[in-house]
Amino acid sequence: MYGLSVDPAQPKPQFYRELVTAADALTAGESDGIANMANVAALLWQLVPELNWAGFYRAIGEELVLGPFCGKPACIRIAWGQGVCGTAAATGESQLVGNVNDFSGHIACDADSRSELVVPVMRDGAVIAVIDLDAPRTARFDEDDRAGIEGLAHIIASRI
Ligand code: SME
Repeated sequence: MYGLSVDPAQPKPQFYRELVTAADALTAGESDGIANMANVAALLWQLVPELNWAGFYRAIGEELVLGPFCGKPACIRIAWGQGVCGTAAATGESQLVGNVNDFSGHIACDADSRSELVVPVMRDGAVIAVIDLDAPRTARFDEDDRAGIEGLAHIIASRI
């Protein structure tokens, strides 16, 4: 279980297929959502190159609340519709931000972050959480990353 390895040098679509398979194996059969988010955050941190933050914000009431993550301590509460995370939650659409300085309202939790990918996790038509990945260089994420993390969100939606 802890020896999971995925080659980061392979083409991204294959890399994400393997990452999703690993996340599926890690979360299958476990009903505790916090435990599953913690392991998925650790998996992302371990396997996805060039990140300075990886984790979850959970939709609670009218805001997002910090969930399991890897990286520096972060903002705890984000209002619905605010920042990159809140925008992903409010729209239900992934947010691919090549340069955080160009995103009006970006919330700078970690001054190292230069680009960001936020993907909503949907269950029964509602956003229940977002997956947030931050990178220390601009344009770190592309459409393959977006599609890959959306696949991850889909597989874990019923387990967090
Ligand atoms: N930058 C995010 C806030 C969360 S941190 O990146 C961990 C945002 O603008 O919503």
